Amino acid sequence: MTVKHFLSLMDLNGPDLEKLIQHAIKLKQESLSGQTRETLKGRVLAMIFEKSSTRTRVSFEAGMAQLGGHAIFLSPDDTQLGRGEPIEDTVKVLSKMVDCIMVRTFAHDNLVRFADAANVPVINGLTDSYHPCQLLADMQTYIEARGSIRGKTVAWLGDGNNMCQSYMNAARQFGFSLNIACPDNYRPDPVLLEETAKVVSIITDVKQAVSGVDLVVTDVWASMGQESESRQRTAEFRPYQVNRELMALADKDALFMHCLPAHRGDEVTAEVIDGPQSFVWEEAGNRLHVQKALLEYLILKEI
Ligand code: CP
Ligand code: NVA
Repeated sequence: MTVKHFLSLMDLNGPDLEKLIQHAIKLKQESLSGQTRETLKGRVLAMIFEKSSTRTRVSFEAGMAQLGGHAIFLSPDDTQLGRGEPIEDTVKVLSKMVDCIMVRTFAHDNLVRFADAANVPVINGLTDSYHPCQLLADMQTYIEARGSIRGKTVAWLGDGNNMCQSYMNAARQFGFSLNIACPDNYRPDPVLLEETAKVVSIITDVKQAVSGVDLVVTDVWASMGQESESRQRTAEFRPYQVNRELMALADKDALFMHCLPAHRGDEVTAEVIDGPQSFVWEEAGNRLHVQKALLEYLILKEI
């Protein structure tokens, strides 16, 4: 039996991703109108967090509860993983007890080890390379606010990190163009750049990168695990700050998004993130709905 995992946006095809987003929009409307849903009654999600989280933890935990299921939070500090039990042994045991496993870890290869050993679906809750659940929420947010993202242009400013690389995959899966403006030594993975060359461009001039675009996105300059580089990065990334002057160069209907947590005054000014073009709260809230759709898809094997 092959198990369906969600390690990156490339694990689903474009039409299925679009269906997933539409299902999330439906689940959100149902939920906002007070309808209850128990499609995952009796099902259990194990969540392994090797890095901190607010949104990912709460959205998965609340999502499972709202669908009639249950989620278990596990950290290396409280499990045998932290005392050296191999990933493979842990996962084989979890596969006998739960219906799905979400993992937030450092190296993407670690996540692949989890998935290879699992007999139940494994979800990427963020690795150093990708954060695909966040992209599902970002795509839902754009589509709800402005309709299809196909044929649009998105500007990514800042680090060529896990979020940037997920946007690169989203560009090829959802059919938009992506302009990346980042310092030379913080470019995304060259192999991924080559694979996505048809839809992704590196544009060194920040103003040119945002000119006329439909969505401007950024993220922290130092990701989890890079705290010691924070000072150096802050100096190097300064020209990539999203501020009002830069937003004024984008299309007049352009949205601003950020996966959060944000640092006002660094990667984005307060007037942009707290301003009228910012959709960051809708974006964060959609993590709940789109991951409920994802859990149903992976556990029930239907969209
Ligand atoms: N955006 C996001 O994944 O947030 P957390 O780190 O709080 O989960
Ligand atoms: N790039 C950030 C995203 C946080 C949700 C990090 O990895 O820390």
